[in-house]
Amino acid sequence: MKKLKTERGDISMAKLAPSLLSADFSKLGEEIALIDNSGADYVHLDVMDGIYVPNITFGAPVIKKIRGTTKLPFDVHLMVDRPERFIDDFADAGSDIITVHPDASIHLHRTLQSIRERGVKAGVSLNPSTPLNVLEHIMDDVDLILIMSVNPGFGGQSYIPAMTEKIKKLRNLILRSGNDIILEVDGGIKLDNAREIIDAGADLIVVGSGIFNAQDVEQRIGAFKKIID
Ligand code: DX5
Ligand code: ZN
Repeated sequence: MKKLKTERGDISMAKLAPSLLSADFSKLGEEIALIDNSGADYVHLDVMDGIYVPNITFGAPVIKKIRGTTKLPFDVHLMVDRPERFIDDFADAGSDIITVHPDASIHLHRTLQSIRERGVKAGVSLNPSTPLNVLEHIMDDVDLILIMSVNPGFGGQSYIPAMTEKIKKLRNLILRSGNDIILEVDGGIKLDNAREIIDAGADLIVVGSGIFNAQDVEQRIGAFKKIID
């Protein structure tokens, strides 16, 4: 992670992961090129199965097809039931991070291990109502923890204010663990609350409708980068 040297020590600079969920699916290649040219850091890919969440998006074959269009890391967010069934598919498709939900996976620890065994970074995503204590025994087994700041399933929802406190608590937990874990926040992030979320401790923010609903996507990404830096 990029570090900023200050008198108070190194401060990690936050990064931006535009979510393709709000992009135009009929021209994903062009949308990814826009993201790439504007200085985004990751591409966030929301995989939904209609069972774990009440919506269906796309799967590993689509990710494999678009993998060749950019060198940006693919941050794959699996909102699917029993994601352990698909780890190999998403690793083969070119995922750099695979994030699963603990309440969707029967043996979470085993699932995280199988992600790492494929040389992919392992993430865990907590819904707004999921307590931080599910992390207690897996802090050595994760590379990324994703705080959902909306209920998963749809873009364009409003940020749940209580999540700011949760982000702060998680930031402390990560510091205490001494591990190099990315704290990602996803849902309802707009220009007017991004700063608050980063100040609370986010390393990586996901933005869907806040980017793709803009008239000028590149300019909007630039505006987010300005806030982050
Ligand atoms: C929601 C997804 C998000 C979504 C965020 O379930 O996980 O990644 O794309 O969209 P916005 O930024 O519109 O809330
Ligand atoms: Zn997501």
